[in-house]
Amino acid sequence: MLILGIESSCDETGVALVQSAGSGVPLLRAHALHSQIEMHQAYGGVVPELASRDHIRRVLPLTRAVLEQSGSTLPDVDVVAYTRGPGLAGALLVGSGVACALGAALNKPVLGIHHLEGHLLSPFLSADPPQFPFVALLVSGGHTQLMRVDGVGRYTLLGESIDDAAGEAFDKSAKLLGLGYPGGPALARLAEQGNPVAFKLPRPLLHSGNLDFSFSGLKTAVLTQAKKLGDELDARKADLAASTQAAIVEVLVKKSLSALNQTGLQRLVVAGGVGANRSLREQLNAACGQRRVRVHYPELDLCTDNGAMIAMAAAMRLQAGVEQSHRNYAFDVKPRWPLQSLDGH
Ligand code: KG4
Ligand code: ZN
Repeated sequence: MLILGIESSCDETGVALVQSAGSGVPLLRAHALHSQIEMHQAYGGVVPELASRDHIRRVLPLTRAVLEQSGSTLPDVDVVAYTRGPGLAGALLVGSGVACALGAALNKPVLGIHHLEGHLLSPFLSADPPQFPFVALLVSGGHTQLMRVDGVGRYTLLGESIDDAAGEAFDKSAKLLGLGYPGGPALARLAEQGNPVAFKLPRPLLHSGNLDFSFSGLKTAVLTQAKKLGDELDARKADLAASTQAAIVEVLVKKSLSALNQTGLQRLVVAGGVGANRSLREQLNAACGQRRVRVHYPELDLCTDNGAMIAMAAAMRLQAGVEQSHRNYAFDVKPRWPLQSLDGH
């Protein structure tokens, strides 16, 4: 079965083709991506209206590109999957509208996919796919969640951020340091040259006894520190970036270990854009290695938003029998949609 996946929930248009056969892990046949980062950079953040218009421009050329890459044609597609939510409503409507139009024109079924389920299952596209059950650390620009995952669609929320997401903490701190948008990767790059213990920054909820996170106080602490440095800020920016990253990473690592302890599980899956962070990967690998816990990540280029994870999640949902694709082309989207409300067996 050939599945076309379309992602358009935020500032990346992603299209991919995934092939599934029998009960084996589905295979990525082709994927193509257009990032809008450059377009939004001038505004210091995502402008929803511009995002929607750009998705409209990109989605069909990207679809042609993946068909060409894989040597297939539109009639070869068996199911059209798209991101149904959560995300920007207008942006989601582009992907769902195009998916439903393609489905209707080809008389093929469609399937709306949860964006975070896409991230969660993206490590199954790697050379070393995980096995269920596992603890998942979902760290994206909009979400920070620890989940117990027992199978496709079987997600139990263990803890989440009560305010800013980890990616947001990276982005907002980076903005305060004048590193532009999106700041996460820029802050991480600068942090490589800095001293992570140069500044004492808060580790919110580290000892809260539960698995919730809070990152909004961190950006205030970074701002206070930046103001205190005044003219010295430029010379100490790398140290402040490294200290900020260290605070975020320490909380993510400690809470992930607590989730593993609490559930007794021996496998951790890390997904979402912040999962690309090198320091997070190094520290998780070191801490989990000591405890004989296996850690799985998506391939680096599939950590941030992409169409492959959407096609993959559709393939796995269909394979697991937790959902049927359908020919109802009413392209309703869900800008807010809790992951744990999905069905599973
Ligand atoms: O998963 P994603 O592409 O989009 C959402 O679904 O939100 O995640 C984007 C987030 C942004 O906040 C970005 O700054 C962050 O992931 N990010 C990183 C790195 N690469 C992306 N944060 C820290 N270090 C990185 N290397
Ligand atoms: Zn995402």
